[in-house]
Amino acid sequence: MMLKPNMRSQVLPMPVVLISTVSKDGVRNAAPWGCIMPILRPLDEILIASWLKRDTLDNIRDTSEFVVNIPSVDMVEVVEICAKSFPPEADEFEEADLLPRPSVKVKPPGIDGCIAWMECKLVEEILREKYSLIVGKVVHLEGNDSFFDERGGMDFESAKPMSMILGPDGVCYTHPAYPGSGREGR
Ligand SMILES: Cc1cc2nc3c(=O)[nH]c(=O)nc-3n(C[C@H](O)[C@H](O)[C@H](O)COP(=O)(O)O)c2cc1C
Repeated sequence: MMLKPNMRSQVLPMPVVLISTVSKDGVRNAAPWGCIMPILRPLDEILIASWLKRDTLDNIRDTSEFVVNIPSVDMVEVVEICAKSFPPEADEFEEADLLPRPSVKVKPPGIDGCIAWMECKLVEEILREKYSLIVGKVVHLEGNDSFFDERGGMDFESAKPMSMILGPDGVCYTHPAYPGSGREGR
């Protein structure tokens, strides 16, 4: 069947992350993000797309720093709370009952309990008429010891990183599925 071009988000699943930032006045913010991708393996830059009316975008512009937190599907409620439109002066760590985790190379804290934390610095903003593209450099990447082995391999089965599909009925959250036996041989 024919699909409208803007239905592309239904056939291209996107990751779900929580971006944490702080405002220039020190207010903590956290927001879910789907439009995020690494820019060419094995480089260390990422790209995020943002509508212009986002506290996250304002904070990145003001401080040049952000943390990409990778939540598990078990954190779906937190994701939904952070998706609400809070005023810029609201501390979203408090609103969503998030435990801050000190970052190593940037000011914004990470979110405790996530699968991994990507500390980023702004490299470039590409401003379009209705949205903005942010290029960030990953300056520190850390995985939660509970989900990674000594080689840095993630146990996807227990970590359950979230992704999303946007269909006519809204967001559907998904997580990795496994082919079962025979996986080891690949
Ligand atoms: C799963 C999910 C993914 C989202 N992805 C994006 C995105 O890629 N870009 C964007 O601008 N907003 C996205 N949003 C909407 C923002 O998270 C939402 O508007 C949030 O309130 C923005 O918070 P802020 O103003 O504190 O930055 C997404 C929301 C959800 C639930």
